[in-house]
Amino acid sequence: MEERKGFKSTFGFLMAAVGSAVGLGNIWGFPNKMGANGGFAFLLIYLVLAVLCGYIVMVGELAIGRKTGKGAIATYQIMSRKFKWLGWMATASPFLILSFYCVLGGYCIKYMVLNVGNLFNAAFGTNGLSGAEVFGNFMGNPTEGVIFAVIFVLLTILIVMGGVSGGIEKFCSVGMPALAVMLVIIIIRSCTLPGAVEGLKFMFVPNFEPLKENFLGVLATAGGQMFFSLSLGMGVMITYGSYLDKKKSITQNALVIVIFDTLVALMAGLAVLPAAFALDPDGSKGGPKLLYITLQNVFDSMGTIGAVFGIIFYFLVTLAAITSSISLLEVIVTHFVDKAAEKGKTGDKRKVYSVLAGLAASVLMVLVAVDCLGSTGIHPAVLLGIENPKTWAADWLDFFDMLSEGIMMPLGAMLMCIMIGWEIGPEVVRDEVERSGFKMKIYTFFKICVRFITPVLMVLVLYGQIKEFFL
Ligand code: PHE
Repeated sequence: MEERKGFKSTFGFLMAAVGSAVGLGNIWGFPNKMGANGGFAFLLIYLVLAVLCGYIVMVGELAIGRKTGKGAIATYQIMSRKFKWLGWMATASPFLILSFYCVLGGYCIKYMVLNVGNLFNAAFGTNGLSGAEVFGNFMGNPTEGVIFAVIFVLLTILIVMGGVSGGIEKFCSVGMPALAVMLVIIIIRSCTLPGAVEGLKFMFVPNFEPLKENFLGVLATAGGQMFFSLSLGMGVMITYGSYLDKKKSITQNALVIVIFDTLVALMAGLAVLPAAFALDPDGSKGGPKLLYITLQNVFDSMGTIGAVFGIIFYFLVTLAAITSSISLLEVIVTHFVDKAAEKGKTGDKRKVYSVLAGLAASVLMVLVAVDCLGSTGIHPAVLLGIENPKTWAADWLDFFDMLSEGIMMPLGAMLMCIMIGWEIGPEVVRDEVERSGFKMKIYTFFKICVRFITPVLMVLVLYGQIKEFFL
């Protein structure tokens, strides 16, 4: 059997894992959810959940992945009798997430090109149209959406074809530091705009009203956001863990990933919201409108230098999205590469599987891209015969998001905790952590959380999500 090549260095592993975690979820999801759900009060709940659920699940996933040295499907098959099937769910989620992630990533590439057009006064720039008009035209042209999504998925496939150390680690080791530098440039610009302080107030001033009115709703929003943002509950961290060197500390690396992801989410808030409030208070509502209309208006209003900032910003978001999409594709590819090696197939099959998995994910992606955020009107509600649909049924993007982020990820994470806490026992995780030669100082804390606190919180998060979607 050929040797399974993993990450070359701790730095490379961290950049890949942080790269997976930092993505569109941080840049547009976090700041808005935080602002709309109580600002600083939401942040406190988010941090508590990140410690009691995010960190615990991260340690658990990295540990079981590294223990088996296999992808998500094989890991659950080896580890558990009762939860053998969980790996399949953990591998189905990436398919669903890729379907819309690649479309949104494609939009970022489109906007990068748009700003290049503006810089050179070219025909493919905004041509004096407002942000809303440009976005409206784009949404009225499904072919363009498909083309940019295809470009994005091709880039994802190309990097994954390069392998874990040659492709993913290399790309993230350069991409993530570059992203940090660009983020700081954009923060400085955004926070020095007149009126920016309103955005900072929106995000940071504690407002306990949303907590009083709907505590469960806020808890579910914070929990869902945290799981998506940390790439948990769906095979990514199990897969990356399986490529982690036995000598490296799982608990320390998990902590660094959680801290960095949260920091970048806060930084993204500083980059995005002050600018949005300074120039278009209405655009602070979030979602695609914020990223593709409000911010483009911000860049347009700055003249030529605005085009430069626009290019930097959309490049940054594209980078963040690619370092996440490659981790999603890798979950699927690892499974097939491992299977091939087990069967004793010779030769490097990774390239073939990367292309095949990318193509398979592209089927749903094209559906989302053609739908143009619900513009076509052929949404799930029509097929399911639902009148007055909620958001999840009104376009394909929200539908796949509801299934994956809303249900499968929190459910997967909750069941994994039950498996570790009650079936195989938390000592399995301790033994794996201690194989690096470190003592697992947080073992008692981990054991109590994984058995009681995390699953209970996850049930609440899941219940809150389901209530929001269906009741
Ligand atoms: N964590 C990524 C983000 O915040 C999204 C993601 C989810 C990536 C799940 C991989 C797995 O955008």
